[in-house]
Amino acid sequence: MKFFIDTANLKDIQEAVDLGVLDGVTTNPSLMAKEGIKGVDNVMAHYKQICDIVDGDVSAEVIAVDFEEMVREGEMLADLHPSIVVKVPMTRDGVKAIKHFSEKGIKTNCTLIFSAGQALLAAKAGATYVSPFVGRLDDIGHDGLVLVQQIVDIFSNYGYPTQVLAASVRHVPHLIQCAEIGADVVTCPLSVITGLLKHPLTDNGLATFLADHKRVNS
Ligand code: E4P
Repeated sequence: MKFFIDTANLKDIQEAVDLGVLDGVTTNPSLMAKEGIKGVDNVMAHYKQICDIVDGDVSAEVIAVDFEEMVREGEMLADLHPSIVVKVPMTRDGVKAIKHFSEKGIKTNCTLIFSAGQALLAAKAGATYVSPFVGRLDDIGHDGLVLVQQIVDIFSNYGYPTQVLAASVRHVPHLIQCAEIGADVVTCPLSVITGLLKHPLTDNGLATFLADHKRVNS
């Protein structure tokens, strides 16, 4: 399973790279705004910086909502760096844009997926990734992991090459359950990735080992 980090924060991205387990990055306009990145030139420069830090796919989302503008913006993003994956929202124009990008060999991530039908449509249009939002479905009383399972099953039934990128992954159990289901990728904040390190018995066990070593070596 690939680990993507869901942030536009360069420090967090570098920390995940340094841990040695990062396969890519996803961003969205809210995450860019959180870092205070504004204006086309700054946004482009920031994506370029992310691509220079990470060896892997970097999703950069189009702001446009109509087909022609999505294509213009997406092609500009794709020209920035070979790692860029154009992130396109699940709308009618978005599906058309994904088809266009797929025919041009430009990688895409179809975002804001909340149903199996939406994921199927994006896969048929040739999306590289589909992003079901697990946490946001949980937020409204649904079970986001059920959707991830449905999509994994459907894609496997027909051998679609589209990868299931579980997004809006908020905590460690989400990530583990996505792995059990067989999602190709999870994207989550740094805290979820580093959360995998933690177990109290590891901490206690290490403290005992070190204390015993010190006792006989001092
Ligand atoms: C995915 O690409 C989205 O950027 C992200 O995972 C959304 O997560 P949130 O629901 O925690 O904002």
